[in-house]
Amino acid sequence: MSSKESPLSPCAPELDDTLGGVLNEDKKKFKTCSQIGFYRRQKLLLPGRSPYHARLETLTVGDDSATLEILHQDTKVPLQLQVFAVEGDILRLKINEVSPLKPRYEVPDVLVKEPATQRLIASKTEEGSVVLEHASGPYKLHVTAKPFCVSVTNGDKLVLSVNSQGLLYFEHLRSPPPNSATAGCGSDSSEVSSQDELGLWREQFGAFVDIKASGPTSVGMDFSLYGFEHVYGLPEHADTHQLRDTGDDDAYRLYNLDVFGYPLHEKMGIYGSVPLLLAHKPTHTCGIFWLNSSETLVEIHSKAALQPSLSSAPPDITKQRAVPQTDVRWMSDSGIVDVFLLMGPGPMDVFKQYSQLTGTQSLPPQFSLGYHQCRWNYEDEADVEAVDSGFDEHRIPYDVIWLDIEHTEGKRYFTWDRLKFPNPARMQEMLREKKRKLVVISDPHIKLDPDYSLYAQAKDGGYFVKDRGGQDFEGHCWPGTSCYLDFSSRAVRDWYSAQFALDTYKGSSDVLFVWNDMNEPSVFEAPEMTMPKHAVHHQNWEHRDLHNLYGFYQQMSTAEGLTRRSGGQERPFVLTRSFFAGSQRYGAVWTGDNKAEWDYLKISIPMLLTLSVTGISFCGADVGGFVGDPEPELLIRWYQAGSFQPFFRAHAIRDSQRREPWLFGADNTRLIRKAIEERYTLLPYWYLLFYRAHMSAEPVMRPLWVAFPKHPETFGMETQYMLGDALLVVPVSEAGASALDVQFPGTGERWYDFRTYECVEGHRRQKVTVTLEQIPVYQRGGSIVPMQTRAGKSTGWMKNTPYELHIALDSKVKRGSLYVGRRGGLGVRGTLYHVKPDVREEI
Ligand code: GLC
Repeated sequence: MSSKESPLSPCAPELDDTLGGVLNEDKKKFKTCSQIGFYRRQKLLLPGRSPYHARLETLTVGDDSATLEILHQDTKVPLQLQVFAVEGDILRLKINEVSPLKPRYEVPDVLVKEPATQRLIASKTEEGSVVLEHASGPYKLHVTAKPFCVSVTNGDKLVLSVNSQGLLYFEHLRSPPPNSATAGCGSDSSEVSSQDELGLWREQFGAFVDIKASGPTSVGMDFSLYGFEHVYGLPEHADTHQLRDTGDDDAYRLYNLDVFGYPLHEKMGIYGSVPLLLAHKPTHTCGIFWLNSSETLVEIHSKAALQPSLSSAPPDITKQRAVPQTDVRWMSDSGIVDVFLLMGPGPMDVFKQYSQLTGTQSLPPQFSLGYHQCRWNYEDEADVEAVDSGFDEHRIPYDVIWLDIEHTEGKRYFTWDRLKFPNPARMQEMLREKKRKLVVISDPHIKLDPDYSLYAQAKDGGYFVKDRGGQDFEGHCWPGTSCYLDFSSRAVRDWYSAQFALDTYKGSSDVLFVWNDMNEPSVFEAPEMTMPKHAVHHQNWEHRDLHNLYGFYQQMSTAEGLTRRSGGQERPFVLTRSFFAGSQRYGAVWTGDNKAEWDYLKISIPMLLTLSVTGISFCGADVGGFVGDPEPELLIRWYQAGSFQPFFRAHAIRDSQRREPWLFGADNTRLIRKAIEERYTLLPYWYLLFYRAHMSAEPVMRPLWVAFPKHPETFGMETQYMLGDALLVVPVSEAGASALDVQFPGTGERWYDFRTYECVEGHRRQKVTVTLEQIPVYQRGGSIVPMQTRAGKSTGWMKNTPYELHIALDSKVKRGSLYVGRRGGLGVRGTLYHVKPDVREEI
């Protein structure tokens, strides 16, 4: 949240019925595609006219890759294509200038390691093309020279192609033209104004001017996916799970922005970005991972088309028929083309391939799978104690209470407001005794105050992002004028991590964990309320190059700090609002400032499914809706949905009415208690699912197409989903619902009502009655769900609670597992029990 603030008065305005107007006004703060210079420039390149030819005679094959030159026919600026066969059916294409004026940005720190490659073998089949293959994989790359195009085949099947629409676009680095406006002084010559029009060296948005030190640096490329009509991924958008055709003048935008009360069903960028697209059909799933951290736009076009032939012989027209095809065009503001083709062939294979590159979900500490109680703000120690004991009084389990920005001395993170929180250590002792935890917020902006030791140290160390003139960049956020830590520098990350040491962070303890917010980064009164792209980072990189990585780095550094604080003994818990590919390694993500409206409850499901299939399993939405006051029915439905979503936290904006679970009358309290208790009895299952996500990249929350990849009726479903492979969850997201249309997937499957054990046969759609008591959940026949017999006051109180196995029968007996983690160790040490065959593994 931010835009409702004036930089001079960092406090939220009254939230009354003018809110709708405020929010609409806000939308204008963000660019549409046509207001983005590199989009306008790339759109001048029309399909089917690629200016690039491959110079096949330059092909060389080395141990790790094959390289060849591609040449722009007009500019004659050569590019180098590097092709890698990464182990495990991943193909990587990298395109950069052969000799750029200076190095171009290549995304660091996202890949867990340099991917292991296999040697390629090159062969020439016909004039004007070359085939690259490797000994162990079924996929071949056919590189055509004129125009440049790469097609990927499996046997005689064409799977996908690159640049077949001719939209490879690469702005080579150049010297500024005379009279250019890079100095920021402007000029009225017509040459400069046409440059301005295209945003080559400067670009204006409202009152904000972006001065481009390197001029135009944009890159882009197209991909055609043959036989595919269902594509997913590309978070974060408040939109459907299945990606939509973007039409002629729209695109999914990946640009991390603080969009308070974001509008629904828009392709605008919000808090985080994962540039991974998945394509699925019954016989094949594959992925395109576009490793670029600058602003990125993705166009999607679906059509029915005749499949192109790879041979020069004319196709047999009688045998040709139109098949679905999805064309995907990626455009980025800077950097290079670095793209991974994840060849599957199944959904789980693609998840594994992606995790091989960017890592798996970190295993959360067990407490963080319980319920979290948050509010902006819990006012003081007495408030924290009262809320905490409210849970006991009303017999509602919970694990963590959260403190927002007001707990600090004037929004100086790592400090405590001395009047409201005079004895934080005692407060944390109280929580510890109750086997509960505290989470506090730590934002990336640091109040400009020479007497604030964190500011003074960072200033002295040169740890802030700089402006174009080399001074510390200053922007406005909660504390007023602030500077922004440059987390892209390892030295800054190390220093920031060290701030979490128990003897450095006064008043902290080992039951305190962290929440990173406003890390898009959010900068009030700045272009699109974020850092100007011409701000300068470590090693002189422009903010434009790494904008989408900023939050990723803050969470990385925070997680490292918490790990170090425990001498490497405890798993950290860090929640972040902004994220990028790989953020799953550092903790949890939430969907930001949603609203207390039914449509926001509904959209939370596709939003979380999309995060889940792009590696981020530990995700959730603010239960109850952040902005506004939910009516009791909505609140109850949200608790019921949230208790079956991975990160389960209620949160509310400052001006909203208090909404602790017991404030809505005895019967509503009972219903909320029931939803939370169900979460706690299922904790062993949650822990097992996270163990699997961590070990083998299986998403915790799964869209039906992942669980039933051969059943097209599931491909567009987003109102129900699978939790692991055993539970089918159908949240209620409409007011006054008395019945729901439920799809029971899978021919020959059996589904058992999770509470009554009533059986329904699969492969049918059926109306089921719902009451306010609970949302429908079904267990798949042949599965075993580990549970505990009753909920405790928190996860910590359940160590000795008996386990029980919920076994749903089927004609075939399958296997079930139970993971019991051991505390005191970063890894996954613990015991994994299997039922059928009955074995026990110490890990
Ligand atoms: C942002 C966050 C919200 C938080 C508020 C104050 O709006 O998204 O969760 O409560 O800032 O810190």
